[in-house]
Amino acid sequence: MDLYEYQARDMFEAHGVPVLKGVVATTPEQAREAAETIGGPVVVVKAQVKTGGRGKAGGVKLAKGADEAEQKAAEILGMDIKGHEVRRVMIAQGADIAEEYYFSLLLDRANRNYLAMCSKEGGMDIEQLAVERPEALARVAVDPLVGIDDDKAGEILETAGFSTRDAVKIAPVLKQLWEVYRDEDATLVEVNPLVKTGEGRIIALDGKVTLDDNAAFRHPDHEALVDHAATDPLERKAQERDLNYVKLDGSVGIIGNGAGLVMSTLDVVAGAGEDLPGSPKPANFLDIGGGANSKVMADGLDIILSDEQVESVFVNVFGGITACNEVANGIVEALDQLGDRATKPLVVRLDGNSVEVGRAILAEYDHPLVTVVDTMDAAARKAAELASAAITEKN
Ligand SMILES: Nc1ncnc2c1ncn2[C@@H]1O[C@H](COP(=O)(O)OP(=O)(O)OP(=O)(O)O)[C@@H](O)[C@H]1O
Ligand SMILES: [Mg+2]
Repeated sequence: MDLYEYQARDMFEAHGVPVLKGVVATTPEQAREAAETIGGPVVVVKAQVKTGGRGKAGGVKLAKGADEAEQKAAEILGMDIKGHEVRRVMIAQGADIAEEYYFSLLLDRANRNYLAMCSKEGGMDIEQLAVERPEALARVAVDPLVGIDDDKAGEILETAGFSTRDAVKIAPVLKQLWEVYRDEDATLVEVNPLVKTGEGRIIALDGKVTLDDNAAFRHPDHEALVDHAATDPLERKAQERDLNYVKLDGSVGIIGNGAGLVMSTLDVVAGAGEDLPGSPKPANFLDIGGGANSKVMADGLDIILSDEQVESVFVNVFGGITACNEVANGIVEALDQLGDRATKPLVVRLDGNSVEVGRAILAEYDHPLVTVVDTMDAAARKAAELASAAITEKN
């Protein structure tokens, strides 16, 4: 789960990372009140969206006083930043910035390690810096069992080219950011910019944090950080039923067992749809997992059929631990439950454990919407053709 900047700010503060005052507002009036509470000659009105490049998109604006804060908030609220609608802003205390640095700590999957990145040239163009002058961005491996201690902080800052004087001031902040990373089970903690003020204080002026959802069970307090309003309603419904579902943009619903099989099913369907009119693509990823019973199958179908973009469904199951008769029963159960609400054709490919029984169940059920196809390729083609026909008919 990615956090909003204001949530990252609060989390930083709780771990002792130096931050400035910040208050969230959802209306221009609230922004005015927040600016009054914060006080000072300048505040900064910052769009809260889970994407980068807010400043460049006009989503970060200075305001001199409460009137201007209200006005800037009115401009920023409702703005669209890379497809994200701004529904709240953070009013932040204005900083007297002398220098802007960059620091991040992340999970380095390729090297099975953690990686710290740091630069003296932080601010808004870090992506460009990384491409054009990679030598200006220090990359230092961090041992998960040791983390960032005095030695590691020193190494990171030296590699990034900081003077000893600056390094002594910045090191404690890196150690605190490591604590955030470790104690909150994050996979990313990024601060851009980490600033030095005119008085020489080091402050995290922006924060991006990604929490590891696999560790959610250790953090009951993280639940409060979930932005339910921004979660896709179908994904939310799937989560409530413990289904592994990701909504995509296409029109062929996909159900399979095992993440690998489902991913290759997405590829095969996308390939089959490529040259067809309307080029139908997968509508979702849904893995019913190993040992799935008929209830899981029924829940999955129910979710996919409630996606209005879906024109056909491809059920692709290789029976291993999951027996094909369970899958077939799940399909029957789901269609019975859905009754008239089931209007989209289903292409089913079953193979493996108890395939004969599974196919027999479906043959006997003989539902007009269900087509059983023996191979994965042929079934994918059939599902894509059905979606293509439906799309062309609509247009
Ligand atoms: N509280 C503040 N006081 C003064 N200047 C600020 C403050 N917050 C941000 N700025 C200035 O605005 C710039 C952009 O802010 P910020 O880093 O939060 O947004 P961004 O980098 O555009 O967003 P993202 O990190 O999502 O790409 C900063 O580099 C800094 O110069
Ligand atoms: Mg930034």
